[in-house]
Amino acid sequence: MSRRKVTVVGAGNVGATCAQVLATRDYCDVVLVDIVENLPQGKALDIDQMGAVLGYEPTVTGSNSYEESVGSDVVVITAGVPRKPGMSRDDLVTTNEKIVGSVTEQVVEQSPDAVLIVVSNPLDAMCHVAKNVSGWSKERVFGMAGILDTARFSTFIAWETESSLKDVTAMVLGGHGDQMVPVVSATTVGGIPLRKLVSEERIAAMVERTAKGGGEIVELLGTSAWYAPGAAAAQMVDSVMLDQHRVLPCTAYLEGEYGIDGLYMGVPVKLGAGGIEEVVELDLTDDESSALEASAAAVREVVGVLGSVAS
Ligand code: APR
Repeated sequence: MSRRKVTVVGAGNVGATCAQVLATRDYCDVVLVDIVENLPQGKALDIDQMGAVLGYEPTVTGSNSYEESVGSDVVVITAGVPRKPGMSRDDLVTTNEKIVGSVTEQVVEQSPDAVLIVVSNPLDAMCHVAKNVSGWSKERVFGMAGILDTARFSTFIAWETESSLKDVTAMVLGGHGDQMVPVVSATTVGGIPLRKLVSEERIAAMVERTAKGGGEIVELLGTSAWYAPGAAAAQMVDSVMLDQHRVLPCTAYLEGEYGIDGLYMGVPVKLGAGGIEEVVELDLTDDESSALEASAAAVREVVGVLGSVAS
């Protein structure tokens, strides 16, 4: 008997990590697709063999075509080029637009009922590409950014307050760029508001480091991060596949929520079997609302660069 299926397109750093995390969860089959010959097959074998050590059943298949992906419940798109030092995510737009567009076309053919999770950057713009090319509803096409940005913010807060990461509750909204919006008013450590524990100056430093958190890793590694991004995408897959109804910060198509219309932006959403069940509207301070507006303007600018098919 076969299990339900998740396809991850792009067997590079992020895609393979996502597949690896999903394999260890042990509730679904995973298909890894890439254009590079032997790459997805080799990584799939390696992840399957890790099951013998970590105690999960082999589930991963690698392929250079989409036939193996047929009938997937969820498809994660990580195909595309990553950043190099000195590049912004937006510098990837033209190259990745073509890749995400062609991947989406092929995914849609094989898995017409799937939920699509986009990871390729610039994320907000790539979500527009996937939505327009697929023609699917906004509930079934969304992106991974907020969980990663929130994970970075939470990590810095745990270090600063010498607390357990498990006791930090935070939320980062907005576009996945330097103008992302960490919602300090909703951030707590063990239930205590962050502002009671840490000075405004130190908070500002953590917000700044979070906004530039991806770039910090690109400078260290010469390419973009993958462990936290791969795990973040897997967390979204979990919520959909297991119908968990988790409220997670994701990149969703807004039609009036938070005063933003016709744009993909990072906001808290409830994720279940059909995809996005609800956009959760937090009360923001005036400063946070204006920061979100500025972030939306930055996203609109990148979306404006997309070719006519996708924009
Ligand atoms: N179809 C399938 N796979 C493709 C295609 C395509 N048309 N074009 C490129 N790929 C594959 C590459 O062969 C490569 O294996 O996508 C993979 C990307 O992997 P990496 O280069 O390791 O990049 P990664 O770090 O995983 O980042 C992927 O996610 O976080 C974002 O900014 C990042 O846009 C980038 C994407």
